[in-house]
Amino acid sequence: MRATFGGKVGAVLVTAGSAVGLGNIWRFPYVAGEHGGGAFLLLYVACILLMGLPLMISEFSIGTATRKNAVGAFRQLNKRWAGVGYLGVLSSTLILGFYLVVAGWTAEYMIHSFVNDPILHSTDITMHQASFERFITHPWKPLLYAALFSLGTHLIVSLGVKEGIERAAKVMMPLLFLFLIILTVHSILLPGGMEGVRFFLRPDFSKISINSVLAAVGQAFFSLSIGLGTMITYASYFKKNTSIQHTAVEVTVLDTLVAVLSGMMIFPAVFSAGIEPTAGPSLIFITLPSIFSSMPLSAVWSSIFFVLLVVAALTSTISMHESVTAYLHEEWRMSRKAAAWSTTMLTMLIALFSSLSLGAWQWMKICGLSLFDALDYLTANLMLPAGGLFTCIFTGWFMDKALFREQLYPNGVQPSPFYRPLRFLIRYFCPVIVTMIFLDTLGII
Ligand code: PHE
Repeated sequence: MRATFGGKVGAVLVTAGSAVGLGNIWRFPYVAGEHGGGAFLLLYVACILLMGLPLMISEFSIGTATRKNAVGAFRQLNKRWAGVGYLGVLSSTLILGFYLVVAGWTAEYMIHSFVNDPILHSTDITMHQASFERFITHPWKPLLYAALFSLGTHLIVSLGVKEGIERAAKVMMPLLFLFLIILTVHSILLPGGMEGVRFFLRPDFSKISINSVLAAVGQAFFSLSIGLGTMITYASYFKKNTSIQHTAVEVTVLDTLVAVLSGMMIFPAVFSAGIEPTAGPSLIFITLPSIFSSMPLSAVWSSIFFVLLVVAALTSTISMHESVTAYLHEEWRMSRKAAAWSTTMLTMLIALFSSLSLGAWQWMKICGLSLFDALDYLTANLMLPAGGLFTCIFTGWFMDKALFREQLYPNGVQPSPFYRPLRFLIRYFCPVIVTMIFLDTLGII
């Protein structure tokens, strides 16, 4: 028999564990910063509600209807659509590859906080900038941390769905939330902090281009872990009585709250310290230490926060790893152990290359971007929206309607008023909008 998660709370926590991660705390603030703040936030929330939520429900329904990994699930429902599953497994592998690098950085910062590195107490922002640069370009340190992170992920996935994954998610999620709230309040109260709040909450539409719309869709999908079959895989472990709709709504709300809180924590500190909000992937690694250095007992705060960040990252790397492992185990008939090891080795290799592309091997560029940045852009802005587009078309037009409905309302329960708008969003709105964004980006319309 296939394993299942322990019940409703378990399902929400594990799924939220996948969704809430570096995407919310590291990626969201830097992408929002690059696209002008407030207006991006509005776009982002619209994408979450109108596309993210319906897509998450679609993926859940495919997972519970088939109880298989992403490839197996599409194949069982309609052989011709197996390619969408393959695209998803490929996306998971590539994302995990560069995600491990950032996860490694968080682990490094955690260790620095434990040993009370004096740099953490510095109030000079250029010191934080320089030490981040030094670390990510170091010839072997970031590789070591990424490898350790990868092994940690491997260990938990090998322990299996219930023992490893569910337990890890249950304790840390509520703690992370509490910490974010405390740090947000502190950050807003910093001198000059209100300017950051204004940047983040006051929309300036002149900064918005079609690129920003694509970035918002990509960020919404990345943050919710959708468009690549992770949620198909996770839903395949849901217990029979788990409500798909409730789980999706709860996870989406939680994930969005964490992203918004992260923005509210980062931008006031960014403005207070005089950092450019467009600093890119380094944004939180420069900003967070400067928030901590302005607090009493800075090493304690920063230790606890980075532990939580590491755990948030871990529950996400686990979900990507699990999607690939489940695919290899079920489709290639490898033992679970061999499947997990293959996933670990492959993704560790990608992680090593993408980490080196920021340091010793800076010559390794694709279209002018480092391998790291190229993977980030390719997966979030192209592969996930494409995966999401096909998944919506599939559930909206090709999946048996009664089967879809049965997943949402089992045992003849009457559909809620939510059902019709949901079908509309899945069948028409999401496919049309994502296609238009793609065509526009390619310069065709
Ligand atoms: N959603 C995760 C985060 O926000 C990242 C992720 C993407 C996890 C895709 C699984 C699949 O950090």
